[in-house]
Amino acid sequence: MCGIFGIVKEHEGPLGETLVGAARRLAYRGYDSVGCATIDESGKIDLRKDVGKIDEVNERLNFSEMRGQRGIVQLRWATFGSPSYDNAQPHLDSDGDLVGVHNGNIVNHVSLRDGFIAEGMTVRSANDGESIVHAVEHYVDRGDTMLDAIRAAAQDLQGDYALIIASNDVAGGDGALHAVKSGSGLVVGIADGATCVSSDLPSILPITNRIIRLQDGEMVSLWHDRVELRRLSDGEIIERETEVFTEGMDAAEKGGYAHFMEKEIHEQPKAAAELIHWLSASPFVPQFLDSLSSAKHLYFVGCGTSYHACMIGAAYFNRISGIPAIPVLAPQFTETLAPILSPDDTVVFVSQSGETKDVLNALKAVRPTGAKVLGVLNVIGSALMHLSDHYLPLACGYEISVPATKTFLNQVVLFLYLADKLRVHGQKIDWNAIPDIIEQTLVSTKEGAREAASILNPYDEMYYLGYGLTLGVAMEGALKLKEITYAHCEGMLSSEFKHGPLSAVQDGYPILFVTAPNDAAMMVNHINEVACRGGHPIAIACEDGLLRKHVSEYISLPDVDQEIATLLAVLPLQLISYYMSIERGIDPDFPRNLSKTLTVD
Ligand code: G6P
Repeated sequence: MCGIFGIVKEHEGPLGETLVGAARRLAYRGYDSVGCATIDESGKIDLRKDVGKIDEVNERLNFSEMRGQRGIVQLRWATFGSPSYDNAQPHLDSDGDLVGVHNGNIVNHVSLRDGFIAEGMTVRSANDGESIVHAVEHYVDRGDTMLDAIRAAAQDLQGDYALIIASNDVAGGDGALHAVKSGSGLVVGIADGATCVSSDLPSILPITNRIIRLQDGEMVSLWHDRVELRRLSDGEIIERETEVFTEGMDAAEKGGYAHFMEKEIHEQPKAAAELIHWLSASPFVPQFLDSLSSAKHLYFVGCGTSYHACMIGAAYFNRISGIPAIPVLAPQFTETLAPILSPDDTVVFVSQSGETKDVLNALKAVRPTGAKVLGVLNVIGSALMHLSDHYLPLACGYEISVPATKTFLNQVVLFLYLADKLRVHGQKIDWNAIPDIIEQTLVSTKEGAREAASILNPYDEMYYLGYGLTLGVAMEGALKLKEITYAHCEGMLSSEFKHGPLSAVQDGYPILFVTAPNDAAMMVNHINEVACRGGHPIAIACEDGLLRKHVSEYISLPDVDQEIATLLAVLPLQLISYYMSIERGIDPDFPRNLSKTLTVD
């Protein structure tokens, strides 16, 4: 997830250290490239950028020595265009009069770019951020003021983004920075003799704690001694009081949440929206779909949480697309299936980090067979990205907490999106509605999850049961619980429970059932087997009268179909693990013995 920061001072002076400091404060969001631009009082732009970590690029390009009256810095997390000098930000317009940065995604950038080239503009990169500069250039060339040009350009840019842009035309009276918020975060800081703007608070707090938060559909113009907020739609000035942020840096980095895990759980509606936008515009999706639909044998391979996404993804493919897909744990794949692959087969490797050694071992075992290798990953620039024939990013931004939450949800969203594209059974999904349904589920299941955590907390071993599509969800919920509560929780098929584990049930023993609508009738049988032996069944399901009669607790999901219910059911499970971890006094972000990236056998 990229980060942007801009600052305006009264007079030209050293700005490099301020920009580098701001970049370091945004680094927790994750990035692969860094770039700074400064503009002096005469309008001269100094732009330096490259791929790499802040300190190493600073050593090479000496950001620290940069001077100016206005400055911008951007950390890029590649989604459109690989990490490279050209794709790094900031970007210039054709004549080098405008300089700008963005974070988020401009999903219509391919068609915009064709238009810019047809107009004779100089387009230098494959990065969507460059579109924001040319979109403004288009209107400035027509004679618009910066303000009007930015407002008009914002109507042309589709996606979730925030941008900062400046012109070198100081003679035209525009010695300002302008910023737009349209789906991504943007905060303004008011200091003595300076103003600043950033995607996030941590880069602003060392400069000032007087802030103004922008809303979507708003823009702000910054001078050293004042800021002006406007509505993008009609240019009307907005009056908004400055607020004083009194909490510390740690709270700012966690966005007001107690832990990164809690923050990342609540970022899921946004992360899903960004992925859905990205997939709908990506030129890579058709290539991916070709390889999936033409495969003789199709395997989804991963470890841990990513493997559970593979299980759900395979179930989606089997049911929705009529394409048999087989989920396999990576080391088992290396040992059993990799040796017998043929060039007509396709293997999709799924890994949040893109560095899991078990996954890379399996990938290397596939290579000599000539089978196609596809990657699904969150970390751009990872080994999996480089080793895949084609890859799709999860577009979640950096996930700090060790237990994967938003990356898992987006893995499932991605599989469902691809299965929906190849759909032969059932109704197409209304993808625009999904982020709101995710948000609604987080809100509506919170209390139930808190209660369930209290019921489960006295126990150190338990079961989560799923059926059909929800088996992978139950297993993922169980893994989450093991990771951050240190309790043992087994996720398994509900119909298998009677074949042995049933002997564990005694008075009050809690068992959690994850059910999607079409499986409710079958699940009632499995619930009864537990309830009649004194067990305490808890259900996570869409509202169902029959089911409700048979369980002790009910965490109700919105009224959706089988496929979407499966996706939503993981949300209360994440919350249960989080609340139980807190009740046990464990830091869910950094559980003992675990690592976010496992690069060992
Ligand atoms: C580690 C992490 C797990 C994760 C697994 C796979 O074991 O602790 O949370 O699910 O690796 O990670 P990947 O990066 O390949 O998705």
